[in-house]
Amino acid sequence: MEDKAALKKLEDALTEYYGWAMHAGTREKIAAAIQRKAARLHVPTDQYCVLAASSSSELLSLVEEIAVSDTFFFREPGQYEFLRTTVLPELFEKHSATQTVSRDNRLRLWSAACSTGEEAFSLAITCHQVNAKADPSNVEVFATDVRNRALLEASRAKYKLPALRACDVELRAKYFENYYNPPEAPLDSRYTVISNVRRLVIFRRANLMDGTFWKGAANRFELILCANVPMYLHSAALRQMVERLSRSLREGGYLMVAPAETSLIEHARLKRIHACEGFFQKQA
Ligand SMILES: C[S@@+](CC[C@H](N)C(=O)[O-])C[C@H]1O[C@@H](n2cnc3c(N)ncnc32)[C@H](O)[C@@H]1O
Repeated sequence: MEDKAALKKLEDALTEYYGWAMHAGTREKIAAAIQRKAARLHVPTDQYCVLAASSSSELLSLVEEIAVSDTFFFREPGQYEFLRTTVLPELFEKHSATQTVSRDNRLRLWSAACSTGEEAFSLAITCHQVNAKADPSNVEVFATDVRNRALLEASRAKYKLPALRACDVELRAKYFENYYNPPEAPLDSRYTVISNVRRLVIFRRANLMDGTFWKGAANRFELILCANVPMYLHSAALRQMVERLSRSLREGGYLMVAPAETSLIEHARLKRIHACEGFFQKQA
């Protein structure tokens, strides 16, 4: 790439609109994607950078290609164990005790960067493990991501075996339709999340840097999972997102980030829970 200014413009746009920090790995992916996309459009790479920096749809199509998207069911088993034994029983109990007659009094949980849906369905399965009566009338797992392609895949709820690598056989048999043990299963088999779990989850597109989206989220959730996102954000974007996450939690609500992201979360009202890495609780 000859024109460093054009590339810088594009990087700045990714930071401004998506909050991304420019780590070495991100830069490598951007460079490769620019080559591919410029070749497809038959334009020089510099021209492609200028175009992508000034076109929200082209910028999003770049994000669709280069965002770090890896995820799998029950990614951090220790965290799901903590959700199953401590956080969700407390939230279900508190919720049933304080429930008033209203049109919409569901327990609201949010997977804030759900990629292809594994995190949201893991949370919904954990709800079922804690409360066999969990259904759309009493709990909602709201799940968002910025990438349309990921959300389309999530809404299909069909997964290959590698996505289930942290699930034991009992869990696979109970929560996935037609699960049968490898090596009998063809390698490309896909396993569908059972409908009682699927119906707890609602997928929507949201950019976590979009201020309009957050307006509707204030004081809404009892639990937010925002894992493996903070580590990719620019410091100013991260600070702003943590503030917004805090505002979106109800008092006493919980935030879960990846264990490796624990030290990135600094907020006066989010108190670290030392019993499990990556957990915070909103204080009064
Ligand atoms: C590594 S995946 C994490 C998936 C899941 N939370 C987990 O921990 O397994 C990161 C996800 O963040 C999403 N993402 C990145 N920037 C975003 C933004 N500004 N708004 C919403 N989602 C974003 C990506 O599209 C990607 O699906």
